[in-house]
Amino acid sequence: MSKQIYFDHNATTPVDGEVFQAMKPFLTEQWGNPSSIHWAGRGPHKAIDEARDQICEFLGCSSVELVITSSGSEGDNLAIKGVAYAKKKKGNHIITTKVEHPAVLNPCKFLEREGFKVTYLGVDKDGMLDLDELRSAITPETTLITTMFANNETGVVFPIKEIGAIAREHKITFHTDAVQSAGKIPINVADLNVDLLSISGHKLYGPKGVGALFVKRGVRIVPLIHGGHHERNRRGGTENVAGIVGLAKACEVAMRDMAGESARVAKLRDRLEKGLLEGIPALRINGKRDSRIPNTANVAFDFVEGESLLLSMDMLGIAAASGSACTSGSLESSHVLNAMGVKAELTHGSVRFSLGRSNTEEEVDYLIKEMPSIVERIRGMSPLWDTKAQKGIELDFD
Ligand SMILES: Cc1ncc(COP(=O)(O)O)c(C=O)c1O
Repeated sequence: MSKQIYFDHNATTPVDGEVFQAMKPFLTEQWGNPSSIHWAGRGPHKAIDEARDQICEFLGCSSVELVITSSGSEGDNLAIKGVAYAKKKKGNHIITTKVEHPAVLNPCKFLEREGFKVTYLGVDKDGMLDLDELRSAITPETTLITTMFANNETGVVFPIKEIGAIAREHKITFHTDAVQSAGKIPINVADLNVDLLSISGHKLYGPKGVGALFVKRGVRIVPLIHGGHHERNRRGGTENVAGIVGLAKACEVAMRDMAGESARVAKLRDRLEKGLLEGIPALRINGKRDSRIPNTANVAFDFVEGESLLLSMDMLGIAAASGSACTSGSLESSHVLNAMGVKAELTHGSVRFSLGRSNTEEEVDYLIKEMPSIVERIRGMSPLWDTKAQKGIELDFD
């Protein structure tokens, strides 16, 4: 394969060169246990302290408010189960949305089996939440609201500050999954009315296997992993020193480069959408276009099977995704697009292009040039597509 074009940065990102360099000493000469009081532990211990400060600066919190995790999934689980169990005596009702990542939906389903009640709020056709619906879902039993910051499939950004204000008004703990917004749009927990916020290293050019959860001072969580006194008794386990140092460097690079890079990527994303819309009939963009992270385009190709599209693109070296990274490979349609009321035929023909640091205008133009013939060829095989008229055939069942 000659070309390799990567439009799947919401699935994962490559480790940044500076990040790798920062991590290297902690995989080689600085291998000590950071809890050891002897010479071997001192370097790693200091490195973790400094890394923690850097991650806190990125999030706008203090170091006692940070729990290092192994992933975004762990952060979400710790926040949701941790708060639900800690507040069990107060109430047993949780509010979330239908468009969350499985790392939020599945802990909620687990808690339902444990006797908790969960309300799954719907979204409108643009993937946006209705705040009045959120208000009406609150009961005296509600202890936790958990909604994502930015959607991994459509990029739609929820009004986190407003949701947080509603939660505060009712003294309900509020968690947000910021895995897809960290590094793409500014995050400052002090401005967002959030009590807990999770991020993941590998989505912002850091390593896999590390993440962080902000837990506001005074918010109690029951740990998932019981062990030593690590993370102020909130997560046992010897620290992943290289991973933590890598996450910190990724946060530092993101803080330094985000403004310019996000503007550049947004321009590329807009160019991609415009080029596809102009070059291919019967196509639409899923998700509220004026409230999205800058890198994500979710494109619905009518009368096309998304998997065939992805395979044809892959043959040209172009990587993209259908649904979330976790569900691609299965033929289940996207729960996010279903919740937005996108017709089943279109959820199957929807492709997520998520751009990032490596992408160039030339790559976007290559995609724009190649896509019309790929789509035309696949549509040509559909009995529902009129090739001559370049539109779908209206079926009359009367
Ligand atoms: C919104 C969102 N939350 C959570 C996760 C899970 O993160 P991790 O892969 O670090 O477990 C992902 C990963 O795709 C995501 O997109």
